[in-house]
Amino acid sequence: MYLGLDLGTSGLKAVLIDENQVVAASATAPLAVKRPHPGWSEQDPWDWITAAEAVLSELQTEHPNLLAAVAGIGLSGQMHGATVLDSTDKPLRPAILWNDTRSHKEAAELDADPRFRSITGNIVFPGFTAPKLAWMRTNEPELFSKAARVLLPKDYLRLWLTGESVSDMSDSAGTSWLDVGARAWSSELLGATDLSEAHMPRLVEGTEVSGTLRPDLASRFGMQRAVVAGGGGDNAASAVGMGTVTPDAGFVSLGTSGVVFVSNARFSPDPASAVHAFCHSVPGQWHQMGVILSATDTLNWFSGLVGQEAAKLVDGLGSELNGPTGLTCLPYLAGERTPHNDAEIRGAFVGLGHETDAGVMTEAVLEGISFALADNLAALSSAGAAPRRLMAVGGGSRSSLWLKMLATILDMPIDVPQDGDFGGAFGAARLGLIAATGASVTDVCTPPPVAASIDPVASLSEAYKSAYARYRALYPAVKGLPR
Ligand code: XUL
Repeated sequence: MYLGLDLGTSGLKAVLIDENQVVAASATAPLAVKRPHPGWSEQDPWDWITAAEAVLSELQTEHPNLLAAVAGIGLSGQMHGATVLDSTDKPLRPAILWNDTRSHKEAAELDADPRFRSITGNIVFPGFTAPKLAWMRTNEPELFSKAARVLLPKDYLRLWLTGESVSDMSDSAGTSWLDVGARAWSSELLGATDLSEAHMPRLVEGTEVSGTLRPDLASRFGMQRAVVAGGGGDNAASAVGMGTVTPDAGFVSLGTSGVVFVSNARFSPDPASAVHAFCHSVPGQWHQMGVILSATDTLNWFSGLVGQEAAKLVDGLGSELNGPTGLTCLPYLAGERTPHNDAEIRGAFVGLGHETDAGVMTEAVLEGISFALADNLAALSSAGAAPRRLMAVGGGSRSSLWLKMLATILDMPIDVPQDGDFGGAFGAARLGLIAATGASVTDVCTPPPVAASIDPVASLSEAYKSAYARYRALYPAVKGLPR
């Protein structure tokens, strides 16, 4: 048995797979985000441990024999979060998450230092880790002076699981401190934020062993001292789960964030496009991705506003695609990364009328997220990526209406995997399997069987093109408004 743990933003998911990669059990525990000020997004690292204890206890109660047979564990997690620890490994403050944009000034300052783009191959986005530490240096100097270690969220979980301070290449690529081409920390970039390699975890590949389960946890949950694989950032780990490990294979993720991900044989940086160029979580490979900050997060915000469950709102639209609503939604609730790199932009609905109801607004939200993903695909293609089809992953991919709309707007077929969750937790379990057995990436990381391929609806493609042109025109218009 192999265990995958995916520390997401809205919950921690555990998946147990057997040696044939058949899912034998799963468990989830919810997580909440705190937003104490506009633009801030934080979680208490201890909540991650509590969630991990909850899923392990549930698996122990429901499936003690399966849990006892776990030989390898893999970790996946929300990327970029700064978990800042003192010299006794105690968190100094709540973790500052990937969708927190408070450090946009510091990010712009670091980004203006040409070494960052040239060594990391990426823009220093406000959500990345280095600017968060620069923000602490200015705004919380006392805490900053006590910082002994900076860990990414899943690596804090690893510290609890194994006692080891280790990270993998894919997640570390999102810190702005990694020489992404060389797959090594850059002491020069760490020095630019008054840190050194001593503050950083040891680096391993996602498929390598990073440590073993602590004896006290093993006996508490009735487990062996299983090996823990390096694992990956949630997007690279999802790619492992979807078999997106061959050049130009890609997926689109409709989760809290939205991602268009393409696997690369080589490091392919193009910071000007605002595309992320990161290490893959399998050795010797890289990937590119466009990231939007509020995908289903926008839908969930709207669902909270109208007091109806998001899934019910989407189901209420039926499965027939009838063309654009005429209402344009900019889903920039927390600023945007690709393609705008704009922490201050906010969302909009344009085109409201007396006839606009919650259904039309829900559909406009789905359109707006799809247009934002089309912007990402365009950025990826300008950065040289050439996916020909995309696999769909994430909660939003359960709506066939949304997938038809997305295929039409992206002008690309979208494959829906057979029933099952092939996301970060499954990918992490695969990495645990590889670390424990030495099996090859090619043998393990195969794509799931495709249940359906959704083609663009040709008769609606011109109408969505016009609606996309309206969407494109709105960003500069909203940006230009006086404040
Ligand atoms: C990727 C990113 C998000 C988070 C979500 O750069 O910020 O996809 O990883 O968990």
